[in-house]
Amino acid sequence: MSVEILEPRGPSTSRRTVLLTGASGVVGRALLDRLTGMDVICLVHRRPVTGPSVRSVAGDVSQHLLGLDEGTYRRLAASVDAVVHCAAVTDFNRTDGSLQATNIVGTEHMVAFAAEAGAVLYHVSTAFVGTTADGDRGRTAIGYAESKATAEEVVRTSGVPHVILRPSVVIGDSATGAIAEFQGLHQVAAGILAGIVPMIPFDASWPIDFVPADVVADAIACVVEQQVRSGEYWITAGERSLRLDEAVAVALEVGREYGVRVDRPKFVPPDLFDRLIGPVFLEALPGKIRRSVVRMLEFFATYLRSGETKPSSLTELEALGMRPLPDQAESLRTSLRYWAEETGYASRAERAA
Ligand SMILES: NC(=O)c1ccc[n+]([C@@H]2O[C@H](COP(=O)([O-])OP(=O)(O)OC[C@H]3O[C@@H](n4cnc5c(N)ncnc54)[C@H](OP(=O)(O)O)[C@@H]3O)[C@@H](O)[C@H]2O)c1
Repeated sequence: MSVEILEPRGPSTSRRTVLLTGASGVVGRALLDRLTGMDVICLVHRRPVTGPSVRSVAGDVSQHLLGLDEGTYRRLAASVDAVVHCAAVTDFNRTDGSLQATNIVGTEHMVAFAAEAGAVLYHVSTAFVGTTADGDRGRTAIGYAESKATAEEVVRTSGVPHVILRPSVVIGDSATGAIAEFQGLHQVAAGILAGIVPMIPFDASWPIDFVPADVVADAIACVVEQQVRSGEYWITAGERSLRLDEAVAVALEVGREYGVRVDRPKFVPPDLFDRLIGPVFLEALPGKIRRSVVRMLEFFATYLRSGETKPSSLTELEALGMRPLPDQAESLRTSLRYWAEETGYASRAERAA
């Protein structure tokens, strides 16, 4: 990986420079496409990133001085006006300490870096930060939300000027469906279309809050471009969320476009599922499918369990210049079509039909 020589900016430079962590990820990739009005330096970890007028430095947020030598660290700090911290371990099944090392210790290091740079820290958290485990299902999956909650606390108590941004579940680009990596929601849709989700242990009327990646990027970029120095923003659909049954209907509709017809999963009360149906149903599944269904249930149980509507800062964000949220059903349809085309699901289904 090439490391650019970073020179402190001269007083005449007018474009602002932002250090972006997590640029190869779902949010970071979309943000990189959106932040065209600024010079961007990416702290890259394992996956490289490229883009017009994008520079990169190889580093690791979990390491002292971000894994850089002291000279590079100081030159980098002298080069940036703002820090957007997207890097995180987002695999909520991790139990190897990497959630803590990256999400908490990594955030401590980014706070120290922002202080050294005299820059505002734009910290990307999650709208699921207040999530708590409910019973056994989701007990592992909660580690991610807990690490993000502690990271927020690190930022809040740091004394560094900061803005906390809390995106909801991120889906693909609203126009193309493109996304750096398929997410839990894609896996759930895949399970439904494979016919291995005969029931969903939730109330059909509960909201499912998601936001397209380009909208999340636009919201963050507006806050950074407007040089907002404090506050907390929920990048969520809020009242505009689909109901669970509406989202399932979109998935089934996309399946039908490719000639796939599966039964609509039944919504069953969570306690009935836990006590009576779940154990029998799960026991009867073959090992690999059971593991996949259990992961889906953990995702549902931990992050979609609540019937509450998430708070949303869309009005404030639109006042900062963010584009309005596109139609939720249409965005989901676009995302699932992209998933179907990219994974070969579409051509397999069409051949089988
Ligand atoms: N995706 C969502 O639905 C969602 C929803 C709400 C909030 N968020 C938040 O948004 C942020 C970005 O999430 P995402 O979905 O874009 O994540 P992602 O796709 O899993 O990407 C994670 C990014 O973090 C980088 N990274 C991981 N460990 C690192 C380390 N030790 N040092 C430096 N970089 C490291 C990765 O680089 P390498 O790949 O090179 O390791 C990658 O660029 C996270 O803070 C997440 O909590 C995401």
